[in-house]
Amino acid sequence: MRTSNFARDAAAFIVERARSAISTHGLFRLGLAGGRTPRDVYPEVAQLGAELSWSRVQITFGDERCVPPDHPESNYLMAKLSLLDRIIIPEMNVFRIRGEIDPETAAGEYEEKLAAVAGRFGEARYVHDLLLLGLGADGHTASLFPGSPALNESVRNVTPVLGPKPPMQRITFTFPLINSARHVCFLVNDAAKEPIVNEIIAGRSPLPAASVRPSGGAVTWVLAK
Ligand code: 6PG
Repeated sequence: MRTSNFARDAAAFIVERARSAISTHGLFRLGLAGGRTPRDVYPEVAQLGAELSWSRVQITFGDERCVPPDHPESNYLMAKLSLLDRIIIPEMNVFRIRGEIDPETAAGEYEEKLAAVAGRFGEARYVHDLLLLGLGADGHTASLFPGSPALNESVRNVTPVLGPKPPMQRITFTFPLINSARHVCFLVNDAAKEPIVNEIIAGRSPLPAASVRPSGGAVTWVLAK
């Protein structure tokens, strides 16, 4: 989807998926992207989704920087200011990655949280109804950067990583978890990333984001015109 109204149309897509999931199976499991791009989208989600039953929405974070939740680099803080503070959602529905504690401990407790829900649904891995992802200029997504050992993780759903840009220490979803989603949506509003997007969509890219291929799901790209 190419749009000249990026934030609004991205939000409309997200809210439509939410309504569909809630009416189909009573729950919408949404994974949030970090970075700067979603900052304009999430307030539109709050506005368009004002009537959503947010108590039937579960929110996870595709990655988190290992900083406290009130740190300017925190993806949780960005989501709190742009979305969570604008909707009425039970705190227990928001699965925050605790970036302020030891990364291995934080990743381990997140695994347990996701596994508890997956177990209730009889899933091998937690299944997102919609997982939002961003795209870095180097082709990374979440915090899966080129050359990272995490690119080859085949067991864990969540793992600590060292990124090339500060904050270096991060925690990220892995491809097994990403590719268990029913639907993945990339949000890209930077024309400089177009060549990478085109290579990925054409299936000609070796970059990390090209490995996002949900086995039982769809991938949607929302791109700014
Ligand atoms: C992060 C994100 C990361 C981001 C891309 C795009 O924690 O930084 O998860 O994957 O989505 O780097 O970032 P921008 O939206 O800021 O361009």
